[in-house]
Amino acid sequence: MKRKYSLEFCVPFLLVFILLQVGWFIYKLVIMPDEGCHKELTLSVCTILVLLALLWIFTSKMSRQNKILEENNRKLSELDRMKTEFLANVSHELRTPLTVIMGYSELLEERLSKEEDETNLKFVQTVHRKSEDLLSLINDLIDFSRIESGKLELRLSLFTLEEVISETVEELATNVQKKGHNVQVNYGSTPLWLLADRGKIKQIAVNLLQNAIKYTPFNGHITVRTYMQGDMCCFEVEDDGVGIPEDEIKHIYQPFKQADSSYNKKYEGFGLGLAITKSLVQSHNGSIQVRSEPGKGSLFIVSLPREKNV
Ligand SMILES: Nc1ncnc2c1ncn2[C@@H]1O[C@H](COP(=O)(O)OP(=O)(O)OP(=O)(O)O)[C@@H](O)[C@H]1O
Ligand SMILES: [Mg+2]
Repeated sequence: MKRKYSLEFCVPFLLVFILLQVGWFIYKLVIMPDEGCHKELTLSVCTILVLLALLWIFTSKMSRQNKILEENNRKLSELDRMKTEFLANVSHELRTPLTVIMGYSELLEERLSKEEDETNLKFVQTVHRKSEDLLSLINDLIDFSRIESGKLELRLSLFTLEEVISETVEELATNVQKKGHNVQVNYGSTPLWLLADRGKIKQIAVNLLQNAIKYTPFNGHITVRTYMQGDMCCFEVEDDGVGIPEDEIKHIYQPFKQADSSYNKKYEGFGLGLAITKSLVQSHNGSIQVRSEPGKGSLFIVSLPREKNV
């Protein structure tokens, strides 16, 4: 790469030298012909020829390097495509046996609770819970590979943002309770209608709320708000949790990136939630913003275009 830049810098210099030499040559030959300057003219022609030869060598080297770069880019894109395909295939293959495990563990849970076998029931409940975590991770991987390969499809329908938020808060109530958080939901005065993919909008809300629950120490405060801003329907999730260091904020939307990526990190997760969230928001022509301060908390704001024909 370094060499490519040095060549790119050399070419304009060479061109300037050549032009100066040609100018000087014309000046001496036509404008100010001077007897006895043949030696100088011959030297000038030689210099021009040498410079032209150098120019030719440099440009052909540059075009060779460009060809190599293009080839490398093509190979990288191919490898990237193969990685995405591999990720999608493996995730699909893992999902099938996992759903079977989950089905049987549910069945066992029912049977053991009828038999009042507390010890075994706890084991089976753990198997079921961990399988659910694994399934959510696999689903994230499938979504991510769909987004990466541009195969994300939106199934549009008409619904209100408020109904999706209510559903999400209800579904995550157990997680909220486990951490003793206080969740407040503030809706605007009029319902916010969206023509969007309901499942995907819910996924956005789930990811943001799950993060707020996860990254807020016990007995924290989480607020979800919906409101209108111009032509955009906005919803925000605010927490008074651990916050994100300033230099980490730019990385949080990158896949597989976590602010704490140390080996013995405190929080579980794969670092896919926000990467998927951002892509889903963008696929709906929306935007996502974050404000955060370490030790004080974070605020994520999602803006989505309002459906005007309601
Ligand atoms: N509400 C929040 N408070 C503090 N940090 C956050 C918050 N939301 C996200 N982050 C930071 O951004 C990183 C990326 O978030 P993301 O949701 O993509 O991944 P994750 O939660 O670690 O894993 P996953 O969502 O895949 O289970 C997190 O690891 C965390 O460091
Ligand atoms: Mg997350």
